[in-house]
Amino acid sequence: MNDGNGGGNGGGHDARALVFRPLRLGALTLRNRLIRSATYEGLGDRQGMPRVEELTRLYCDLASGGIGAIVTGFTAVSQDGRAMHSGQCGFDSEAKADAWRRVREAVRACDPDVPMIAQLAHTGRQTLETATGKPVVGASSRACTYFRQPVHALDEVGIERIIEAFAAAALRARDAGFDGVQIHAAHGYLIHQFLSPWTNRREDRWGEKDRFCLEVVERVRERCGPGFSVWIKLSGEEDRTPGVRIADTVRTAQRLESAGVDLLEVSYGTMETALNIIRGACPVNVILKVNPLFSHISPHWRPLWKAVVGPKHLYRLKRFTPNYNLAAATAVKEAVSVPVAVVGGIRSLDDAIQCLQGSGGPGLDAVGLCRPLIREPDLPARWRNGAASKSTCTNCNLCTVYCDGAVPTECRTPHRAADKGRSS
Ligand SMILES: Cc1cc2nc3c(=O)[nH]c(=O)nc-3n(C[C@H](O)[C@H](O)[C@H](O)COP(=O)(O)O)c2cc1C
Repeated sequence: MNDGNGGGNGGGHDARALVFRPLRLGALTLRNRLIRSATYEGLGDRQGMPRVEELTRLYCDLASGGIGAIVTGFTAVSQDGRAMHSGQCGFDSEAKADAWRRVREAVRACDPDVPMIAQLAHTGRQTLETATGKPVVGASSRACTYFRQPVHALDEVGIERIIEAFAAAALRARDAGFDGVQIHAAHGYLIHQFLSPWTNRREDRWGEKDRFCLEVVERVRERCGPGFSVWIKLSGEEDRTPGVRIADTVRTAQRLESAGVDLLEVSYGTMETALNIIRGACPVNVILKVNPLFSHISPHWRPLWKAVVGPKHLYRLKRFTPNYNLAAATAVKEAVSVPVAVVGGIRSLDDAIQCLQGSGGPGLDAVGLCRPLIREPDLPARWRNGAASKSTCTNCNLCTVYCDGAVPTECRTPHRAADKGRSS
């Protein structure tokens, strides 16, 4: 299968050139194959209003750091779809879209060649009623063991309202000058809840697992027109059984291709075992300190909690390995013609090259980076300028854990003296 982007074997070409070739995605052209994967910024106020100056600074740093495209952190399409994270931005009102327009214009002034894609999400059961002020809703009433909230299964009216909320948010993003949207169908959020047999236990027409996802994409596509890029992020697999398996994701991807998505990004997992989405260290003491779901546990009980919960959940996590979602993304790429990206564990130029060249299958079209860019927004430029250096991200995961507190996302591990001066 060929999308005209030559996603396959790099053959005798300079391997670096594979990474720094442009990528055509429908009406959009990316200057290289490196995408800033969606990363919660913690730069919204309590109502989800974007903090324009800070967001502009963050994205301008990424743009001047050489990235090919920027996907924003997840933005809520409706109030009941807000996350537990108090700094999450929204795209659920004209006022918020207006703030995003100012961000978009400022980033374009920094660098006109970096497309910006708004990630649109509804959390479904993965939130707290205290965070949204609304009943928690889901594909069915099965509660999430992490958030432990009663979940109200959506009825037809609720489902239609949320499909419409995705389409309205996408239109706002388009009118605010964004180049596209990425529909968040991964990580156990509402669309993933419909995709998964673990959470979709419906017996009505929405029991067809990818129906909701497809209807969201079709409505967004229809509302925003053909010139607007529509991306989607999927979890290739998840931890639960019965849950999403790669054969299901491949089938969903094929149907999404027919529905007109421009890029599929493959990730992993759900928030029920959130650390398996990202892998690496499990900073349990910090989790107990800052995560509102656990911070109520008194210091007295913490050793017992760690002894009981630790072995069951925390210490049996999947190990971090470079390119840990590459096999899943390759399986998707083999089955579709639409461009496919992977995210998860890309840390060096060689990792990126391996994804694009292919390993046991066709090469992918793009790679997503998250934690490395929180630490070193100029990593793409360094790679482009000849440095073969590996990201100094240690996967300590403090960036992630602190997302659960009310602070902006940042790297909290000091740079070693030897690394100083590598980053601007
Ligand atoms: C601090 C932090 C915030 C994240 N926020 C989002 C988000 O808003 N939306 C999303 O789809 N994924 C989010 N992710 C997941 C990343 O996009 C990515 O899938 C994951 O971190 C693996 O990539 P990496 O190894 O390059 O970090 C986040 C991850 C981290 C560490």
